[in-house]
Amino acid sequence: MPGLLLRDLSRQDRYKLLCAVVVPRPIALVTTLDVNGAVNAAPFSFFNVFSEDPPLIVLGLQHKSDRTLKDTTRNIQRDGEFVVQMVDEALAKAMNDCAIDFPSSESEVTALGLATLPSVDVRVPRLAAAPFALECKRNMSLAFGPGRELLVGEVLRVHAREGLLDTESMYVDFAAYRPIGRLFGNLYSYQREPFTMVRETHAEWVMRMQAEGREPAQES
Ligand SMILES: Cc1cc2nc3c(=O)[nH]c(=O)nc-3n(C[C@H](O)[C@H](O)[C@H](O)COP(=O)(O)O)c2cc1C
Repeated sequence: MPGLLLRDLSRQDRYKLLCAVVVPRPIALVTTLDVNGAVNAAPFSFFNVFSEDPPLIVLGLQHKSDRTLKDTTRNIQRDGEFVVQMVDEALAKAMNDCAIDFPSSESEVTALGLATLPSVDVRVPRLAAAPFALECKRNMSLAFGPGRELLVGEVLRVHAREGLLDTESMYVDFAAYRPIGRLFGNLYSYQREPFTMVRETHAEWVMRMQAEGREPAQES
């Protein structure tokens, strides 16, 4: 099999394939402010941290099928401010409900009765129930065709729910955190069984190879 040539696949098949293969993806539940000051919330799993210096995250914002902007995209384009709340098991249902196609004029946060707390460096409130909330401002956005943009955001401040973060050691209590991941379609994953792997230095690896009677492969 020569593999699948992506340009031969329909857009839907590419989406299905890539989303099912690149898993699990973390979920950003993004709050923004609309033009009237109402709090919008929507989940995005084309999301990840990109770097720590500067501290950047990336979000893949697809436009609606009629090419109009999602509320999140429009609000960030206007204000340049947003908050990413990480999604744990307890927040999963609310996250899913935030993806309901509420009319733009209706705040998901108000409709679903989600409690908010004020942020410090941005005007956009954060969700009180979130395990972690990242106050962000837009760094840049790149348009890819008429249908989507890649948003790069700078993380200004991180809020942690009580008991999850030791700020001296920066240790996150992963067992208490309980993040979920997005798989594909309506499928999500728990992250309940982490495992440890210690990485050897090259010298340690060579010594182990010799101890095991195996010769490290020579470059040809
Ligand atoms: C788990 C999950 C992940 C999603 N990821 C994305 C994404 O990465 N990009 C995107 O454009 N839409 C994504 N969506 C769809 C948006 O959340 C949905 O279109 C939402 O209604 C947009 O709301 P807004 O118009 O208030 O911004 C996702 C939905 C779910 C449930």
